[in-house]
Amino acid sequence: MINEQLQKAFSKQINYELYSEYLYLIMKGLFKEMNLLGFANWFDVQIQEERAHAMGLIDYIHARGGIVEYDKIDLPSIEGKTPIEIFEQVLRHEQTVTSKINELYEQAENIKDRAAQHFLNWYIDEQVEEEDNVNGVLTTLKLIENDKHALLMYDKELAQRTFQAPTIG
Ligand code: FEO
Repeated sequence: MINEQLQKAFSKQINYELYSEYLYLIMKGLFKEMNLLGFANWFDVQIQEERAHAMGLIDYIHARGGIVEYDKIDLPSIEGKTPIEIFEQVLRHEQTVTSKINELYEQAENIKDRAAQHFLNWYIDEQVEEEDNVNGVLTTLKLIENDKHALLMYDKELAQRTFQAPTIG
């Protein structure tokens, strides 16, 4: 069985992963409006990643005999208009996710729930990848700033991104 407080913390993280999915869904729409369909595809994959992150946590609570405490998902606000501004927000968002995963791990550590700590290691590693991936896009965008031709070439590259269902835990 999972400790009740830890179950609540896991449930909050599930809500935040679903919020991330919602945020990226909105961002995908913004890139579609700009006709940058490769970027829209990048967000499509990201949406699936966030859903997988939420599902991994949901399955884990169930596997531990717990109950998921669902809550409403807040409407995300978008803090910029340009591709660079949007990806700056994505990076800030992923950094927040990282700190929330770290807090969740600390809660598991405090009550010596070794199984939960072991499980959460996957999420800790995943956040390194998430931040690295977003940082890569942001760095490229800054490099090609004001070069529309280069932006379109990069858009074509991002159209190649595909979703690989992760094995979590
Ligand atoms: Fe689920 Fe992008 O962190």
